[in-house]
Amino acid sequence: MAGVTFILIALGLIGVSQVIETEGAHVKLSVYYESLCPDSRRFINNQLYPTIQTLGGVDNLYLETEFVPYGKATTEVVNGTFQFDCQHGNQECEGNRVHACALQKLPAADAAAFINCSMALFNSPITDPDCAASLGLNYTKIENCLNTWEASTLLATNGIRTHDLEPTLYYVPWIMFNNVFTVEDLDVAQRDLLGLLCDKLDSANVTAPAQCGNRRH
Ligand SMILES: *[C@@H]1O[C@H](CO)[C@@H](O)[C@H](O)[C@H]1NC(C)=O
Ligand SMILES: *[C@@H]1O[C@H](CO)[C@@H](O)[C@H](O)[C@H]1NC(C)=O
Ligand SMILES: *[C@@H]1O[C@H](CO)[C@@H](O)[C@H](O)[C@H]1NC(C)=O
Ligand SMILES: *[C@@H]1O[C@H](CO)[C@@H](O)[C@H](O)[C@H]1NC(C)=O
Repeated sequence: MAGVTFILIALGLIGVSQVIETEGAHVKLSVYYESLCPDSRRFINNQLYPTIQTLGGVDNLYLETEFVPYGKATTEVVNGTFQFDCQHGNQECEGNRVHACALQKLPAADAAAFINCSMALFNSPITDPDCAASLGLNYTKIENCLNTWEASTLLATNGIRTHDLEPTLYYVPWIMFNNVFTVEDLDVAQRDLLGLLCDKLDSANVTAPAQCGNRRH
């Protein structure tokens, strides 16, 4: 990774990351995932996206979400260009690039809806133009990023963040709240993300939203 970090520093790209941030949200959720990973799909489609929608969208006051497509990939610099090796093969690397570009080029709410669709169809990048079309999004914005160094640079940056995780990522999706990983959060988030968020708001003495109801652990 040393060479990768050097190139990104040379390009002035360390610290640039494509995240969906909501100023002032009380809980930050980071999800490190892969475009063709069944467990990532289940989490995003069954827990994360519905929870974001339940709370009123990506700009809600409670949960800020950061998507980091990369997962158990590796990055190498070969002849001055990035080469990635992904857990589910080259198609997954391409899918991860599309997601990284979507997060960088689209408004946050559109990027989240696009990722929800892409994970549901589970054939990124092949069906991604269909997702853009069905959501009324301009896929050219993604394509223009995809076909340049930018996509690889975004993915390499995600790689550095992923390889730097403490503890080391051993499962995908890797889920962290407020930059802290616990096995219990990883487990509960995949079964009842909304309930877990409500617990966390309680512990932070934040008045939980009505959507929490009596939902606690
Ligand atoms: C790197 O580029 C050189 C010169 O074009 C070429 O001979 C070599 O095979 C390339 N190496 C790899 C690993 O692609
Ligand atoms: C998210 O994806 C699911 C498919 O799993 C779909 O049923 C749902 O309509 C999507 N949500 C939105 C708001 O697009
Ligand atoms: C889609 O995005 C491209 C690139 O930004 C732009 O040139 C084009 O005009 C856009 N198309 C529409 C219909 O907005
Ligand atoms: C929440 O309130 C309790 C009781 O007032 C207090 O002991 C605790 O430190 C508070 N926690 C936070 C995170 O502010």
